[in-house]
Amino acid sequence: MIILGLSGALNHDPSAALLVDGEIVAAVEEERFLRDKHAKNRMPLESARYCLGAAGISPKDVDVVAFPYAPIGLASSARWHYARRHWYAPDRALDALLNGNRRYRRNWRRVEELGDQIGIDWGRTRFEPVEHHLAHASSAYHLSGFTEKTAIMGVDGKGEYATTFFGYGEHGRIYRIKEFYDPDSLSGVYGAITEYLGFEMLDGEYKVMGMAPYGDPDRYDLGRLINRVRDGFEVDVSYVNTVGLRRHKESGVGFYFSDKLIDWLGPRRKGDVADEPYIHYAAAMQQLFENWCLELMETYLGETLRETGRLAFAGGGALNVKLNQRIVALDHVRELFVQPAAGDSGTSLGAATYVAAREGERLSRMTHVFLGPSYDNDECLRVLDARREPLSWQRLDDVPGQAAELLAQGHPLAWFQGRMEFGPRALGARSILGCPSTPGIADRINEQIKFRERWRPFCPSMLDRVAPEIIQTDHPAPFMTITFDVAQAWKSRIPEVVHEDGTARVQIVDAEDNPRYYALLEALEKLTGNAVVLNTSLNRRGEPMVCSPEDALNMFCGSDLQFLVLEDYLVTKVDGEDQ
Ligand SMILES: [Fe+2]
Repeated sequence: MIILGLSGALNHDPSAALLVDGEIVAAVEEERFLRDKHAKNRMPLESARYCLGAAGISPKDVDVVAFPYAPIGLASSARWHYARRHWYAPDRALDALLNGNRRYRRNWRRVEELGDQIGIDWGRTRFEPVEHHLAHASSAYHLSGFTEKTAIMGVDGKGEYATTFFGYGEHGRIYRIKEFYDPDSLSGVYGAITEYLGFEMLDGEYKVMGMAPYGDPDRYDLGRLINRVRDGFEVDVSYVNTVGLRRHKESGVGFYFSDKLIDWLGPRRKGDVADEPYIHYAAAMQQLFENWCLELMETYLGETLRETGRLAFAGGGALNVKLNQRIVALDHVRELFVQPAAGDSGTSLGAATYVAAREGERLSRMTHVFLGPSYDNDECLRVLDARREPLSWQRLDDVPGQAAELLAQGHPLAWFQGRMEFGPRALGARSILGCPSTPGIADRINEQIKFRERWRPFCPSMLDRVAPEIIQTDHPAPFMTITFDVAQAWKSRIPEVVHEDGTARVQIVDAEDNPRYYALLEALEKLTGNAVVLNTSLNRRGEPMVCSPEDALNMFCGSDLQFLVLEDYLVTKVDGEDQ
């Protein structure tokens, strides 16, 4: 069966994923083609075209188009909850009751139009809407490879109405235990405070998490943002998750928090500095989020976890690597699986896997993210030949060995290999690399190449055979979705990838899924004694990750990078400093 999953239901992070008989053959985010981060208000047109093209499948042969947004009936408590909790914005409350599936209908029209554009035959191809949180849940559970009963948690801003999902998976089916509805959203509160701290919601949450270790979580108590009620929590919408007239506004732009929050905490943070009191707010927000997720997880999934020890976690909240560290540390959690595109871009995959599982197809564990476009040496050469900048290039006969030498000499290196990653993390296909024992390499990459906030940490990729010694556990970590405490002895060996609080968000690399990256780490180990490399995504601040050789060269020529390994070619700048 051929299933094309599409996302873009919530006007950000559109993507496409293609399943053929249960196997993921391609998945990609639209932002990479459009060169517009999160590709807001777009549909995954180029992504869908790419997926079909990569698989050599005609649009006429697609059996199902799966979409992670479904109609919600008036009998569901979701719409009534939304209406009751938005009493202060009566137009929204009434809309939820009288016209509660307007967005669904608009989405369906957009999917239909996209299908027409790519040549889907709607007479033959079925359209299958999947509830947003079930798509998230499926993207984690069905791709976890767990065969025993598995607890499932979904923590997300908002789908149709649900924001937070607790359930379990058994024999390939997903069962719901409890859902919370908008505006009661833990990720929503995190997003509102992200905005307050001067970052963009759905983008800057990582930055808040990166800032948190610099602050004292107990200096300010943000507890009043989330109230405890009988079966869980309610967000205090007089502060956050605020809509309509209650929103705080600056220069006509409305925020997801109120003036009351400003009166309480002071003006919204501006600029790039991690300073007081904002670092403490970040720390307090991170702690509040962790504590609530853990408490609800215990309430609704504790029993299942004690039975099986398996947890599949999805939704934007699952990218909170510090929360994940605390989950993994729990005695009754044996293994946590976070699907690497846990945010909304992964719901294309989730909608597709949900339908596939329901149709009885076999799905196996997702072991890598190399599901996007690739370009061979000839294509790279054609692009290089067409460049006007004074570049020189040579074909390397030992790519990993020669790249490792440059790294060991202390150079940052742009690394472009094979199929592009699906999901927000660069995992060795479109990366900027550095040697983690070279003093100051992280600052240099921050200041000269990525132009990011200097307090944000960089992460390590490491060989599977040394990882247990470094992170002191044999828990799997292929996708940089969990932080771990770094062993004392290793902190001084790889200081450039250890965060302020002694943790690192690691990627464990195995030989099977990325042999060339593995070989690079082995070569670096021979030169430096450490099979660890600093790995950050190949892009500049505010840009999506590089997709094509053209993008790579645009980025390379527009930065202070001196070395780019483009498939088998080493590209350097002539008169380096002048470029
Ligand atoms: Fe979502």
